[in-house]
Amino acid sequence: MPSFDALRIQDPDIFAALQGEMLRQREGVELIPSENYISAAVMEAMGNCFNNKYSEGYPGKRYYGGQQYTDVVERLAIERAKQLFGAGHANVQPHAGAPANVATYFALMEPGDTVLGMDLSHGGHLTHGHPVTYLTKIFKFVRYKMKDTETGAIDYDEMREVALREKPKIILAGYSAYPRQVDFAKMKAIADEVGAYTMADMAHVAGLIAGGAARNPFDDGFDIITTTTHKTLRGPRGGMIMTRDPELGKKMDKSVFPGFQGGPIMQMIAAKAVAFGEALEPEFKDYAAQIVKNAKRMAAKFMESGAKLVTNGTDNHLLMIDCVTSWGLPGQAVETLFDEVGITLNKNMIPDDPRKPMDPSGIRMGTPAITTRGMKEDDMDRLVSYMLKAIEKREDPSAIKALHEEVKAFCLQFPVPGIAV
Ligand SMILES: Cc1ncc(COP(=O)(O)O)c(C=O)c1O
Repeated sequence: MPSFDALRIQDPDIFAALQGEMLRQREGVELIPSENYISAAVMEAMGNCFNNKYSEGYPGKRYYGGQQYTDVVERLAIERAKQLFGAGHANVQPHAGAPANVATYFALMEPGDTVLGMDLSHGGHLTHGHPVTYLTKIFKFVRYKMKDTETGAIDYDEMREVALREKPKIILAGYSAYPRQVDFAKMKAIADEVGAYTMADMAHVAGLIAGGAARNPFDDGFDIITTTTHKTLRGPRGGMIMTRDPELGKKMDKSVFPGFQGGPIMQMIAAKAVAFGEALEPEFKDYAAQIVKNAKRMAAKFMESGAKLVTNGTDNHLLMIDCVTSWGLPGQAVETLFDEVGITLNKNMIPDDPRKPMDPSGIRMGTPAITTRGMKEDDMDRLVSYMLKAIEKREDPSAIKALHEEVKAFCLQFPVPGIAV
């Protein structure tokens, strides 16, 4: 684990902030479903002299000399990614999930072409065509939705109708706030009918797929998988693009570099390789399975209390609660209240939310980070009881303060990998 001795002496301000963050992460409950705790080995791999090296290009074909070790690192990251997801080709250079998606769009489409993706209030991501992104100046985005928000079932008939009408170049399966699994085979059949590529943005569920707790879109013939590496996959912040088709692989490589990015961030690629190595270990399967067990238990406990969950449960790592219906409170008020007791999650739109994105009706929470800390089903019961107590006692500052202390004491029983304070 890094000692931070040099930082402490040279820059006390930054060191103090870092120490504060380490303590916050240890003393609090992290329920943001896109967050996780990396191991000490991943942390060491991402902070070192690989930062000093320019490596534009790909292993064996670089623009600068001195690549004997960067090539080793990038080749290992690629090989491990391929093994983990059954891919024929992996590009590990995207700096994050958003660049991975943008590079994929530009590899497969011309300006004016269309992407068919999930409606944003039904769980799609900003990079799937939110009007605030520049992407919408270049490409057209059309939508499919759930047909029933009580079950989460996607409306595949509507998806097919839209696809036949709009002739998308890409049909996109990928979600930031969708608690169910989709039918990739049905999407692939629709894409084949209209001659579209199939792309899965599995940023949220990559770790579940790697650990066998969610279906791999390649097994249903998907063309492209994009992902982040820092959510359930438990690696450094970064992105990745994979395919089984060598020709598409070449297009992806050209699109990432030189099409879109400059030099790869080699220390992050080293850390990706380490994280993929961890995910290839048998224990990672147990981790992925436990994430889902924990999320299901949490969902069941909330529903027992009468809370209203979007799709009435979960199949993956996250759950969404309609706070207005459940407790007569908007999502922001609940996010702030839970922050006061040391439980971090985020406000979120519910499907077809009548409220605004910055003041939505719901909250979103997930179990990847707390599962990394070793929490199990019984601990989920405890966490739900803390959250329900916070709701009940929200007008009572001393009860909220006492609850915060209880949450802190509970959390400190579970070590955070990579952090020693
Ligand atoms: C489905 C999905 N795709 C892409 C991204 C973007 O990833 P990044 O924040 O690393 O750019 C996210 C991030 O939340 C996501 O949930």
